Order: sequence, then structure tokens, then C-alpha cells
Amino acid sequence: MALLTIETTCDETAAAVIDRDGRVLGSAVATQERLHERFTGVVPEIASRAHVERILPVIDTAISQAGISPRGLTAIGVAHTPGLAGSLLVGVVAAKALAVAWRRPLVAINHLYAHLFACQMSQAQSVYPCIGLIVSGGHTSLYHARGPLDLEYLGGTIDDAAGEAFDKVAAMLRLGFPGGPAVSRCAATGNPKAYDFPRGMIHDRSYDFSFSGLKTAFRYAIAGPGKVDFETLDLSPQTRADLCASFQAAVVDCLVTKSCRAVRERGVNRLCVGGGVAANPALRSTLLESATRHGFRLVIAPPELCTDNAVMGAIGWELVRRGEFADLGLDVIPGLQRGY
Ligand code: KG4
Ligand code: ZN
Repeated sequence: MALLTIETTCDETAAAVIDRDGRVLGSAVATQERLHERFTGVVPEIASRAHVERILPVIDTAISQAGISPRGLTAIGVAHTPGLAGSLLVGVVAAKALAVAWRRPLVAINHLYAHLFACQMSQAQSVYPCIGLIVSGGHTSLYHARGPLDLEYLGGTIDDAAGEAFDKVAAMLRLGFPGGPAVSRCAATGNPKAYDFPRGMIHDRSYDFSFSGLKTAFRYAIAGPGKVDFETLDLSPQTRADLCASFQAAVVDCLVTKSCRAVRERGVNRLCVGGGVAANPALRSTLLESATRHGFRLVIAPPELCTDNAVMGAIGWELVRRGEFADLGLDVIPGLQRGY
């Protein structure tokens, strides 16, 4: 009895095999970082082509690691929303083809719910109900999660996602892609108070976020307004470190302030954090300090389950238990509207 899970929402091609108790029997992730590096961002067309090339070998690896035959699979789970349309399609079409060939049912996984469920994977007790912060390259959203599949949207970014802001700042400093880990490494020797960057919407009563003003302030700090050639910018290593540390502090401040407020106002004594940016050490340590100070429980997804992976697709078991299977008409929902 095992679930095969497939994840191709953005630029990671991933598959995993998970047993009924949430144990990972097999897992493979093929990253496309090298392919998108020179564009300093994910190029959708390149991403979907790369998924096509990698999807079957990745599934094969996960299944071989698990040492099971397709007969041992209870169902096939696939992330069908939200994400890049072309990328999602590759995973959904592969899942449907295998479902027909192996006569197994399909389950449709919401990628954001799965990011939050990654927090559950490291815990013996249920992490629900909780306030869920999902902070990734495509999303920055706060939820009141009453169960793995019962999420109430509280608010989210009205412009850039936090991870996207990290990636753009890294591109300006030519630190490479993905930008998050590079900015975080560069920030390690910097002064987080060197630049007073704006904390968009931090005092606003909503649970929304805004990072585009921060990105613009960063650009002005390094090059002023007007046309600029980032390739020829000459900044000292200490200036770069100070810029990164100050930028990172502003992002962390916004994320922590609104998450803690949601915990307090919703009377939920637990905060769960998932998504690629949750791998950020400064965010992790600041959240921990706040949880200790305010006395709430904090669960951050293990770093390897923060960025896109198929293991968090274990949430598919919840759908299997409820008997909520998808049919072959299952479609992708890129779902870029707010609240997703
Ligand atoms: O969850 P994820 O793999 O993909 C999406 O669903 O978007 O998140 C990728 C994002 C990228 O923007 C990347 O720069 C960011 O997560 N990220 C980080 C760190 N590691 C990855 N951001 C800040 N600090 C990190 N250590
Ligand atoms: Zn993701």
C-alpha cells in the first residue's frame, strides 16, 4: 500500500513513493537550476520541456528505490495547482497516463496545501489547527488551517512573493540563481541595520504583504533611479553583505510580524511555516525567538522539504482516506489569483 506522488509545478521535477503511515519509501528530485541560471529566473517554456525529458526517469528512480511494483500502488497523486501551466501539464499528463496503464486511481494535490503539510511530515502529533505561512518563489500567503485540507485564506502578497524578491535582489547583485540561498549566504557577514529598507504594509490591519517597494528601494540604494547596467556595478564585499543583510531583515520582519499577529488574533497557538523561503536561516531563527517570547508552538518544515519536492505530496493520503479521487478529466489550474 503506497502512494506515488508527482510534482512539476515550477522548475523541480519530483516523484516520491510514500506508505500509508507517511514513511518515504522512495524520492527523487531533478532540479533545473542550471537551465534557468543565466536568465536569473524560471523560463516557463524551458521548464516544461525539461520536465518532459525528466519526468519518467524521476518516477522510475522513486519507484525503484521503493522496491515496489505498480501493483503495490494504492493511487497516483499529482500536484495540479497552482503553478506554471506548462509545467503542471507535464506532471498531470504523466499521472493520467500511468493511472490508465496501471489501472490506479488519481488524486489531485494542491501544491500550497502540500507545502504546509511538509510541516506535518516531521511531527508525530497533528500540527493542525495552525496558522500556516507559505513563503516561496511564487507565493507568500497566510492561512488559518483547521486541517490538512481545510485552509482559510487570511491574506497574502499583493505584488511580489518573498522568494521572488530574494531572486530579483540576487539578480541585481549578480549573485546567481536561485537568489534566496545566495542572498542569505552574502548576508551572513553583513549588518542588518546598515540600510533602513521599507517594510511594506507591516502596520496595515490586513494579513497582506507587499515586497515590490522593498525591491525598488534596494535598487535605488545600489544604483539610484534611471537606467543602470548591473553588470558594471562596483560594490565592495562589505557593502554587498550589508545590503543583503538589511534586505533580508526587512523581509523577515514583515513575515514574522504578520504571522505572529495572526497567531494572536486567531487564538491558534501554533504556527507552521513551509515553502522555499522557509529554508532561510534568519527567518527560522527570528521565528523561533518570537515563538519563545510569545509562547506559541512553531513548526518549520525541514529544510529539505521547504523547496519543491514530492514527499510533501503525502497529503494525497488524506484525499485517499476521504475517497476523494480525481477522474481523467483532471485539469491543471495555474491559479494565479489571490487567495490560492
Ligand atoms: O517552494 P519553492 O521551491 O518553489 C515555489 O513553489 O516557488 O521556492 C523557491 C524560492 C526561490 O525564490 C528561492 O530563492 C527561495 O525559495 N529560497 C530561499 C532560500 N532557499 C530558497 N529564500 C531565502 N533564503 C533561502 N535560504
Ligand atoms: Zn513550491
